[in-house]
Amino acid sequence: MLRSVLFSLLAPAAVAQCLGNGTHPSLRKNLVNPETGESYPLGITVPAWAASYATSYMAGILIQDLLGINVTYSIVTGQVEAFFSVAGCLTPNNSSDRGCGPEGPSVTYQHLQMETWYGNYPAVWAQTQTFATPPKLLGSMGYEGTEDMYFSSRELSAAYETEGLALDYWTGFDATWKQPGLYFDQPSAVNRSMLKPCADTNLYNDLMMSAYLSASGDTDGVVVQPDGKVVGKCPGDGYFWLSPSCRSDPTKCVLYITGGGGYGLSGVLQRATRWNIPLAFGVGATWGDFVSVANTKKSMFYWWTPDPTFLEMSPVMTKFPAHDKQAWEQGDISTAALGVFIGKIVSHDLSALAPRLVGFLDNIQIDMDTINAMMLDQKTSGEEWEPVMCRWLQNNPQIWSSWMPDDSTCFPKFGMFDEITEQFVSNRDDKEGLRLDDCL
Ligand SMILES: *[C@@H]1O[C@H](CO)[C@@H](O)[C@H](O)[C@H]1NC(C)=O
Ligand SMILES: *[C@@H]1O[C@H](CO)[C@@H](O)[C@H](O)[C@H]1NC(C)=O
Ligand SMILES: *[C@@H]1O[C@H](CO)[C@@H](O)[C@H](O)[C@H]1NC(C)=O
Ligand SMILES: *[C@@H]1O[C@H](CO)[C@@H](O)[C@H](O)[C@H]1NC(C)=O
Ligand SMILES: *[C@@H]1O[C@H](CO)[C@@H](O)[C@H](O)[C@H]1NC(C)=O
Repeated sequence: MLRSVLFSLLAPAAVAQCLGNGTHPSLRKNLVNPETGESYPLGITVPAWAASYATSYMAGILIQDLLGINVTYSIVTGQVEAFFSVAGCLTPNNSSDRGCGPEGPSVTYQHLQMETWYGNYPAVWAQTQTFATPPKLLGSMGYEGTEDMYFSSRELSAAYETEGLALDYWTGFDATWKQPGLYFDQPSAVNRSMLKPCADTNLYNDLMMSAYLSASGDTDGVVVQPDGKVVGKCPGDGYFWLSPSCRSDPTKCVLYITGGGGYGLSGVLQRATRWNIPLAFGVGATWGDFVSVANTKKSMFYWWTPDPTFLEMSPVMTKFPAHDKQAWEQGDISTAALGVFIGKIVSHDLSALAPRLVGFLDNIQIDMDTINAMMLDQKTSGEEWEPVMCRWLQNNPQIWSSWMPDDSTCFPKFGMFDEITEQFVSNRDDKEGLRLDDCL
C-alpha cells in the first residue's frame, strides 16, 4: 500500500519497549477507523524544535508502552505546518500546496501535536477549522511560553556584587541613574561579518518602524526616506540602531543581539526608548552568528522559552512594568508581555478512535523546570531524543503515573473485558482482573 510505503520512508515507527511493564511491541494495536474499518498507527506530528521533540517522545513512549498503541512520528518545519499536518494535509511543509482544503482529505493519519504554540497563528488555525478534518484544541502543557529580553546570570551577579545594581528589574537599566553598559560589551566588540546591515533587517520595514515612531515619538531614531518610507537610523557603519539614551555616545550602550530579520524588534525598541535603557540593537547574519555572539559577548539577547539554546548560562529575564492591556491594544508594547499559551492539539476524530487516550493527553501537565531538565539532558548527552525521554520516564514515574486514566473507566461503544473469566462484563463492581478491551 502506498501509505505504508510512505510511513516506512518518512516516519519509522518507534519499536523498542521502554518501561519494564510496558506492552510488548508485537502486542501493540493500531487505531481502527470505525467508518472504514481501516487500521493505522497513531501519528504524532513533531515540529522541529527541542521542547516539541521532548514532549512528543514523552507522550509517544507512554502511548506505546502503557496504552499499547502503535505510534509513528512525522517531523514538520514549524507550528504552521503542524496545524496543517493534524488537519489531514498530505504535504504540510509545502507552503505553496499543503495538500488539503475544505474538500478533503476526509481522513487524517496525524492525530496529535504536543507543545502547540496555539495563539501565535490565529488566522492559520481558523483556516484549518474550515477543513473536512478540523483539529481540536486540548488543554495546557502546564507551562507558558515567553519571548523576551534575556542576559546571562553572570552579568546579573557582576552588577549586584559590584554595586548592588539589580539588572533583573528594568529600573536597573535606567541611564538617568545607572551605567548598565559597564557590565556589557559595546557594539564595537562584534565583528561586522557576523551581523546583518540594518538595511537587511526589519529596521528597514516601513510598517514596523512607522509603528515604532507613532508609539514612541522618537523622530531622531528613524529616517524618513524620499519615498516616504520610515526606516531605523543606524549611525556610523549601519549595523546597530541606538536608543536615545546612548545615541550620542555608543560606548555607553548595552549590546543587544537577535536573530532572523530582527525577532522581538518592536518590543525591544519601544522599551529601550520608554524606560531609558541605553541599548544598541543588532541582528546576527545567520542564526549561528546570533547564537555565537550571545554566547561569547556580554550581551542582552532575544530568547524564547522553553528552548535549550542558552540554558547553560542560566539566562535572566529583565522584569518590566506589569502588562498594560489597553496600551498594548493601542500599539504601545513597552510593558511586560503576557505569557504565551502552549497546549496540545488532536485530530477531530481522536476521541472516537481512542477516548482513553484523549483523557490521558488532557491529563499531561509538566512545569518549566521539568522541560528544561529534559532539554539539558539531551543537549549535554548528545543522544537521540527517544533514548533520552525513555530514561526520563524510567526515572520519573511519580510525575507521569497520575496522567494514566483509570483502567476501568469506560466510554460509549467500548466494552469492559474480564481478563480472568475472559468475558465482557456490564459493570465494574469487582475491579480485580477488569481491563478495558479495545478501550484504547
Ligand atoms: C508500571 O510501572 C510504573 C512504574 O514503573 C507504575 O507506576 C505503573 O503503575 C505500572 N503499571 C502497571 C499496569 O503495572
Ligand atoms: C505495531 O507495531 C509493531 C512493531 O512495529 C508491529 O510488530 C505490529 O505488527 C504493529 N501492530 C499492528 C496492528 O500493525
Ligand atoms: C518537513 O520539514 C522538516 C523540518 O525541516 C523535515 O525534517 C521533514 O523531513 C520535512 N518533511 C517532508 C515530508 O519533507
Ligand atoms: C510544492 O507544491 C508545488 C505546487 O503543487 C509544487 O510545484 C512544488 O514542486 C512543491 N514543492 C516541493 C518541494 O515538493
Ligand atoms: C572578522 O571576521 C572575518 C571573517 O571570519 C575575519 O576574516 C576577520 O579577520 C575578523 N575581523 C576581526 C577584526 O577579527
